[in-house]
Amino acid sequence: MPETPGFPKRTATCGSLRAGDVGREALLLGWVDSVRDHGGLLFADLRDRFGVTQAVFNPETAPQAFAVAKTLRPEYVVAVRGRVVARGPENRNAALPTGEIEVRAEVVEVLNTSETLPFPLTDEVNVAEEVRLRYRYLDLRRPRQQRILETRHRVVLATRTYFDAHGFLEIETPILTRSTPEGSREYLVPSRVNPGRFYSLPQSPQIYKQLLMVAGYDRYFQIAKCFRDEDLRADRQPEFTQIDVEMSFPDPEQVYALLEGLMAEIFRAAGGTIEVPCSRLTYREAMERFGSDKPDVRFALEIKDVTSSVAKSPFRVLSDTVQRGGVVKALPIRGGGAWSRQRIDNTVDAAKALGSKGLIWIKTSGGTLQSSVLKHLTEEGCRAVLEAAGAGDDDLVLLVADSWKNACSILGALRLSIGRAEKMIDESRHALLWVHEFPLFEYSQEERRLVSSHHPFTAPRPEDVPLLETDPARARALAYDLVLDGMEIGGGSIRIHRSDLQARVFQVLGIGREEAASKFGFLLNALQMGAPPHGGIALGVDRIVALLTGCSSIRDVIAFPKTASGVDLMTGAPSPVTPAQLEALSIRIALPPESRPPSE
Ligand code: AMO
Repeated sequence: MPETPGFPKRTATCGSLRAGDVGREALLLGWVDSVRDHGGLLFADLRDRFGVTQAVFNPETAPQAFAVAKTLRPEYVVAVRGRVVARGPENRNAALPTGEIEVRAEVVEVLNTSETLPFPLTDEVNVAEEVRLRYRYLDLRRPRQQRILETRHRVVLATRTYFDAHGFLEIETPILTRSTPEGSREYLVPSRVNPGRFYSLPQSPQIYKQLLMVAGYDRYFQIAKCFRDEDLRADRQPEFTQIDVEMSFPDPEQVYALLEGLMAEIFRAAGGTIEVPCSRLTYREAMERFGSDKPDVRFALEIKDVTSSVAKSPFRVLSDTVQRGGVVKALPIRGGGAWSRQRIDNTVDAAKALGSKGLIWIKTSGGTLQSSVLKHLTEEGCRAVLEAAGAGDDDLVLLVADSWKNACSILGALRLSIGRAEKMIDESRHALLWVHEFPLFEYSQEERRLVSSHHPFTAPRPEDVPLLETDPARARALAYDLVLDGMEIGGGSIRIHRSDLQARVFQVLGIGREEAASKFGFLLNALQMGAPPHGGIALGVDRIVALLTGCSSIRDVIAFPKTASGVDLMTGAPSPVTPAQLEALSIRIALPPESRPPSE
């Protein structure tokens, strides 16, 4: 192919040349990483996404190239043509894949200059996240960020290949959808041609994928963008990506096996391994042992039940809790007998910050017993608790007396922070597990009614269907979460595929016939027109890639993320719009003038 003038044609990337290329002519395109003057010779490291190659400029053999090279500054974009030569043994750089060669430059062309950057691009430099996000295009130019986004690409590619090989079709579902309550908050989009009406951005493609099963597509997946206007955290973004999956005629075992196979492929694509099939815990067991429905099982610290050992205790705080139907849970910490009083007090404060009414502690050190409740519980009572918790000499036991869920959750949160502080977690390995048998409903204090734990289309376990009318709070769901290293990376369920059962679930949720018909009429109709049994799951791509790349926030694995307050610092979104734009949409802003954004 002839070269178009002004468009130098690359013959090698900055990461591709090796000793075997010595003698070859090469044209490299890239960014100037650094320039060094070494006694008459100039050395420039050229960088692109594929690596770094050293170019050397000699004033004797290529005076013109040398003169241009003297003007080079970091981040200039250049084309360098020259011959690949071997570096002398003393100049080899074993840390670089291209470290055995260099390019002796004959011609260099500056394709663009660069101002001094607001921060250097070396990976080790600590720059405030706010600055990085404001100049995200520079942040993304850093090799570490480029590796992360490459891993993300590999994960998504492996996913597509895997599902294609298993007979799944990728089908796109709409982004402009109808507003349907699915638990969390929706973004609404006004329509100019339909004044006063709104589309909603999908929180997930849930209903569409179910309709695709009704339509007979049998196996669907999609790399789906989802949108949720909820409070943000390190593991939550307002727009994020799911690997969304649905299949007809599934048995939960098939879903588990399919997803375990996918996770093995994803790990392989990212250069790691994961043990599959993975273990399973029921929701109840996960809460009982680890105090979490997404337990990190990479460390052995476990919660014990000591309710029966204190049920008849003269210490009323404990026995009254048991009397009222509560429980007493214990977290035994090996060697915790050596904890200082200050450390224990800090842990008590941490428990209170988690919503605990208090935290009781008992420890022994060299045979001597100490406890925050020694005078109430007596030495004998304390020793009985230690024994029930499986604690020995020089151990510490932390106790919470509360409702089952509170007691488990509070100790679960303490377990995690103690595990991290004591470096008990083996970070070198990954632990994948299923949590299943979730309750179908949970009580919402805010709404003072039962709400779906997952979503209203989740099927109850067949043996629990009769509980819908008698004791719905006890009904368990055919729902499952996939948990990796203590993070929920996916959730799904077998769905209700018959409209009579769906109507019974809506009844429990307090969704009347009319409300159901107006909100989900199309789904309810579809269930009456030959809907097959179906079920599926959605995995969070951002969370998986963050865990695979060792990032503590999913912001690091999203090319252009929002801050914790939902703002894009680079573009300034969300932004005010002009009165003319609002008028075209027939929208009036009800904010009082003093709280309006400046340019409105
Ligand atoms: P769910 O709401 O559990 O299920 O979401 C599935 C997975 O999506 C990821 N996720 C998020 N990731 C980043 N930021 C967020 N704000 C966010 N919210 C969720 C998590 C989570 O496990 N339609 C159902 C799935 C189904 O039943 O098939 C659903 O969306 O990794």
